[in-house]
Amino acid sequence: MTSTGMRTHQCGELRAEHIGQTVSLCGWVATRREHGEHLAFVDLRDHTGLTQCVVDNAVDVRPEYVIRVTGVVAARPAESANDRIATGAVEIQDCQVEILNTAEAPPFPINERADQVAEGTRLQYRYLDLRRERMQRNLRVRSAVNSAVRSAMEGQGFVEVETPMLVPSTPEGAREFIVPSRKEPGAFYALPQSPQLFKQLLMVAGVDRYFQIARCLRDEDLRADRQYEFMQLDAEMSFATQDDVLAAISKAVLDAAEVVTGERPAPIERITWHEAMNTYGSDKPDLRFGMNLTELTDAFASTGFKAFAGAACIKGINATGRAEEFGRNKLDAMTDRAKKIGAKGLVWLKVGGDGSLDSPVAKFLSDSEQAAVKERLGAKPGDLLLVVADTWMTTCEVLGQLRNDLGRPPVYEGPYRYVWVVDFPLFVSVDETTGRPRPGHHPFCHPKPEDLDRMETDPMSVRAQAYDLVLNGWELGSGSIRIHEPALQRRVFNLLGISDEDADRRFGFFLTPFRYGAPPHGGFAFGLDRLVAILAGEENIREVIAFPKTQSGSDPMTNAPTPVEPKQLNDLGIRVLPRSS
Ligand code: AMO
Ligand code: AMP
Repeated sequence: MTSTGMRTHQCGELRAEHIGQTVSLCGWVATRREHGEHLAFVDLRDHTGLTQCVVDNAVDVRPEYVIRVTGVVAARPAESANDRIATGAVEIQDCQVEILNTAEAPPFPINERADQVAEGTRLQYRYLDLRRERMQRNLRVRSAVNSAVRSAMEGQGFVEVETPMLVPSTPEGAREFIVPSRKEPGAFYALPQSPQLFKQLLMVAGVDRYFQIARCLRDEDLRADRQYEFMQLDAEMSFATQDDVLAAISKAVLDAAEVVTGERPAPIERITWHEAMNTYGSDKPDLRFGMNLTELTDAFASTGFKAFAGAACIKGINATGRAEEFGRNKLDAMTDRAKKIGAKGLVWLKVGGDGSLDSPVAKFLSDSEQAAVKERLGAKPGDLLLVVADTWMTTCEVLGQLRNDLGRPPVYEGPYRYVWVVDFPLFVSVDETTGRPRPGHHPFCHPKPEDLDRMETDPMSVRAQAYDLVLNGWELGSGSIRIHEPALQRRVFNLLGISDEDADRRFGFFLTPFRYGAPPHGGFAFGLDRLVAILAGEENIREVIAFPKTQSGSDPMTNAPTPVEPKQLNDLGIRVLPRSS
């Protein structure tokens, strides 16, 4: 029941069954059309929809006036019924209108056409933008997802614990926002990138199963799937295996998806990180389309083609039926793109009507090499084949990007393909200056026990008990089983080049507690904004955040960030340098 002391119904509620009832509706004037000499049609709007009200045209109501209408529900004449809206069979006649508030003409019309309005303007007047049906729906999808996630976690025995927003700066991952301390000028808090360290301490504290719908802050470059502030469903559990964590999180995600879409998604499949890279060229594989990476290395084992000879890994993809679409300019652009991603070059081959290969390098490839490429890639006339030779990692990454460029539908388009990517490597790359490995995720991920004895001898081959959840090519979330043994944590830090003293200095508050009996534990966090965007059919998480920042990190409505008074800076002991540009 959403009736109040002022209204009997909402604007999207009335149907034929209400005919004859006297009702009161409150809302905003969406449109006004004059009708005959004395009457006007006013469409009254709230977040539930529109109702047509027949009013005396002497009443001065204009778009976005806030009014209360009382009248009798009547059937619309057949010729004026509107089957595009849910209330289209009825109207309210003999309306008494009470003007609750007037409104200036809005800067843009409050309807779907506002989708075309410059985003800066939409964000400047976000409170008007949010009045629209699409945005109202998005906010409600978000609320439904939060609620489903919360009940799924509670139902599985997780307790919600809040963690602080003013935390020490810990150098891990993304750049932090820092907050100056007034009491200790020159000292700073950081805003949390995630509750990671605190949730692990909650495990030491015996909480057993923690969750939080947590706000996280990261000072990174903004993109369609990135904001400075975002929300995570953050969770951690004790005495749990990877399977336990995946099961708990899967339930929360699938419950949320079901609430929004009305359909229970299939159980989430799993692939290893290696398989994801090898087959899709990405650690966030989009399984909605094929164009898989196909192994060609052995077919070129004794090639005379210089660019392929001796290459560690040669793979190809088949952009089926795309040969004609790619003229010389587009192929050159694609080659440049491949080089930007890290390739030394890109071989393209167009399959002609007779099955012959049209390519500047065809003459360097033997008949048997050409036949192998065609056979393995399932080439048919009109196909465009793309081949890269490089290290395994580079070959996979380059073709994975091209595969996405060529085949990836908008992220929100069904079917929804959830996938757990498991067995991430513990270290992703080697720092060229220090020669040290870099952690794949954060440095607290537990290596796979069976790989532990290779940590020092072959660190890059060590897999972590770390996993990501991916939906339609977007990383929804990440997690891992954590290191709970202080000696192992020191071993990983040492490999990263962090000495025991450094570790104590940088992470001491986090490491000391582990000396007091830390249970084995693991957890996960997924981005609620990303899940909501996909489920709401949006390509940018800004559309599902009530008050987001623009791409450049500002808020045109509040003008944040803004300079502050010199006195505030003085109190904080801060002097601002002139801009260097
Ligand atoms: P991670 O850093 O992978 O893991 O973040 C988890 C998820 O949070 C979302 N996310 C973002 N969403 C919007 N804007 C951003 N700037 C942004 N950054 C991240 C993504 C991402 O997958 N503490 C670990 C988790 C753990 O190990 O338990 C963590 O935060 O959906
Ligand atoms: P090059 O031998 O550098 O003149 O290159 C000949 C052709 O092979 C060009 O079309 C390059 O883009 C392509 N090419 C060169 N190196 C590679 C590579 N590692 N993988 C795929 N194509 C390559």
